[in-house]
Amino acid sequence: MEKNTKVFHINKKTHEEQIQDAAQILKEGGTVAFPTETVYGLGADALNEEAVMQIFEAKGRPADNPLIIHVDSKETCLQLVKNIPEKASILMEIFWPGPLTLIMKRSEIIPDITTGGLDTVAVRIPENKIALELIKCAGIPIAAPSANLSGKPSPTTAEHVLSDLSGRIDALIDGGDVSIGVESTVIDMSSDIPAILRPGKISKEELERYIGEVKIAYDDKVHPESGTVRSPGMKYTHYSPRSDLILVEGEHDNVVPKIKELIKDYSQRNAKTGLLLTEESKSEFPAHLSYSMGKKDKPEQAAKYLFFGLRYLDERNIDIIIVDGSFRADGIGMAVFNRVRKAADIIIKV
Ligand code: TXA
Ligand code: MG
Repeated sequence: MEKNTKVFHINKKTHEEQIQDAAQILKEGGTVAFPTETVYGLGADALNEEAVMQIFEAKGRPADNPLIIHVDSKETCLQLVKNIPEKASILMEIFWPGPLTLIMKRSEIIPDITTGGLDTVAVRIPENKIALELIKCAGIPIAAPSANLSGKPSPTTAEHVLSDLSGRIDALIDGGDVSIGVESTVIDMSSDIPAILRPGKISKEELERYIGEVKIAYDDKVHPESGTVRSPGMKYTHYSPRSDLILVEGEHDNVVPKIKELIKDYSQRNAKTGLLLTEESKSEFPAHLSYSMGKKDKPEQAAKYLFFGLRYLDERNIDIIIVDGSFRADGIGMAVFNRVRKAADIIIKV
């Protein structure tokens, strides 16, 4: 059924009232998209089966892909899990609120639909002020995947959310652009050695500083055929723009000539190319149909502008998007590379 999506534009004067109205929609079983520090999320009451069903419907999300539950305190988290392992408790103290999602054994109060039938649950406290106020005001745990159509790049602005979900959700809180730009780090705390299922701003090294050995249990490829993966979301095609995507990885001096060669090749075949570049390579190419993701030594800029850039180019009816992969691959850079590699149809190493 087509919905009339209500948009709350946050400004200081009417701020509280708008949060209250949005929280009321959540309490009544509706869906509300809201900003977090990572990407926009699409929220619904995590304990209300019908409300959660609407998230899956709006996104076109496969039913076996579980949702992250957003809470505003460790106390609420306690109700959702069997117990909080000691190492999980340490991470909560250090990193919450923040872009870290912890997977723990679930309690009985959560409906199966929210956890995709798994015996674990993913939980985080977001750091965004609007998100926290909304959760507090609603007084319920909020299930919220990224607020995009399934398979599309995650939304980093309110416009992205509307472009994917207008008419499919009850409301959207427009709180401006997000600050990080890639989704939270997901870490499984339910087995002996914690394992990272999705890289994000908080890196393996940072986590290990507080809890010792951490395993990496993700890879940068998509495995559609695989039946049992630890994080069901990782087996689906992700972050895909409509256009084909070629990632050229290597040092700046090798990447630039390779991209030039590709552009020439495709223009001879009448295919329109769009470029996602570094600030350093920008001047080497025509400005038309190119977008800079920032300095190559500042992966936090690439994180912030990657999804934005993919959507920007996709709106310009391009056949091929070529991504300059000369960004630094450490810290949040790991998360950026993970997302582009998953989105890529072809990866060229130079
Ligand atoms: O930053 C974020 O995490 C954003 C904002 C809105 O909070 N949310 C987000 O949610 O990225 P989503 O649904 O797009 O991604 C959640 C990921 C999926 O890959 C899912 O499979 C995995 O977390 N996940 C959720 N519950 C899980 C569980 N119990 N076991 C393993 N993986 C789980
Ligand atoms: Mg998502």
